[in-house]
Amino acid sequence: MLRRLFLFLAGRRWLRRWMEESPRAAVLTSRFVAGREIDDAIRVTERLNQAGLWTTLDYLGESVTTLDEAERARDIYLRLLDQIHARGLQANVSLKLTQFGLDLSEAACRENVAAVARRAAEFGNFVRVDMESSAYTDRTLAVVHDLDEACGCVGAVIQAYLYRSEADVEELNCRRIRVRLCKGAYDEAPEVAFPRAAQVEASFRKLAESLLFRGNYPALATHDERLHAALLRLAADNGVAKDAFEIQMLYGIRRDLQVRLAAAGHRVRIYVPFGVAWYPYLMRRLAERPANLYFVVRNLFR
Ligand code: FDA
Repeated sequence: MLRRLFLFLAGRRWLRRWMEESPRAAVLTSRFVAGREIDDAIRVTERLNQAGLWTTLDYLGESVTTLDEAERARDIYLRLLDQIHARGLQANVSLKLTQFGLDLSEAACRENVAAVARRAAEFGNFVRVDMESSAYTDRTLAVVHDLDEACGCVGAVIQAYLYRSEADVEELNCRRIRVRLCKGAYDEAPEVAFPRAAQVEASFRKLAESLLFRGNYPALATHDERLHAALLRLAADNGVAKDAFEIQMLYGIRRDLQVRLAAAGHRVRIYVPFGVAWYPYLMRRLAERPANLYFVVRNLFR
C-alpha cells in the first residue's frame, strides 16, 4: 500500500518540481544523496574509499525533456570520469538512458552514451547502464550490447522481478557483458514481473547462481542480509574467488553491513547519487522501505 503510494508520488512531475526547487526539502536528502555537485560525490568517494568501499557515481536525473539537458548530463559524466582518473579513485559511473535523451532521439542518446564510454575506455574505467522500467528493457540492452562491442567497458543491469531476465542473463553471459543483478525498483504489472517478494527472491538466487558460475565479474546488488549469506556461501563452496564478483549497495543504506562485508574481504561498491534531481530516487527508496521516512524527517531537526 505505502509502496504503491510512494511509487505514485515518484511519478508526479509538479510535486517533483516543487520539492526539488525548495531549499528546505533538499535538507531531507542528505542520508541518501551525496550532495548537489560533482565535488560532493568526489568527497564522499574519497571518504568511502578510505573505509575500503568502492563507489559507482550516479548524476541524478531521468526522462529529460530536451536534448540540451541530455548533453549537459553527458558533460557532467565526462567531468566525473576525469576527476576519478585524476585523483586515482576506486570509482566508476552509473547512468540512465532516459537522462541521455532516449525518449527524444535514440540516435542522440547513443551518441551521448558512446562519448562517456569512450572516455571510460581511455582511462580503463567502466560505465554501468542502469535499468529503468520494463518499457525500456529491450532498447537499453540493445544499447549496452552495441556499446560494449565497440568499447568493451559497458555493463548492464538485470532486474530479478522480470520474467524475461533468465533469458537476458543467458545472452549477457554468452556475450561476456558484466551484469549488476538487482530485484527491480519500478511498479510493474503481473504480466511482466513476479508479483510476490518470495518469487523475486527465488529468481534473484537463480540468476545470481548463473552469473557467479558463468558470468563475467557480476555485481550482486541487494541489502538483503539473508541473500548475501546464501550467495556468499554458494560462491565459497564452489571456489568462486572473492575478487571475481562485487556486492553493491546504495549510499546510506545498511552502512553497518557495507563495512562488515568489506572487512571480511569482499569487494563492496556503493552506489552514490548526487545532483539536484533527487526526488524520484528518494521516493523509490521510501517505496522499498517506508521506515526510511524516519531518516528523512530526522534531517529536518538537525
Ligand atoms: P528488499 O527491499 O528486498 O529488503 C530486504 C532487506 O534489505 C530489508 O529487510 C532491509 O533489511 C534491507 N533494506 C532494503 N532496502 C532498504 C532500505 N531502503 N533501507 C534500509 N534497509 C533496507 N533497481 C532498478 O530497477 N534498476 C537499477 O538499475 C537499480 N540499480 C541498483 C543499484 C544498486 C547498487 C542497488 C543496491 C540497487 C539498485 N536498484 C535498482 C534497486 C533494487 O532494484 C531494489 O529496489 C533495492 O535494492 C531494494 O531491494 P533489496 O534487495 O536491497 O532489499
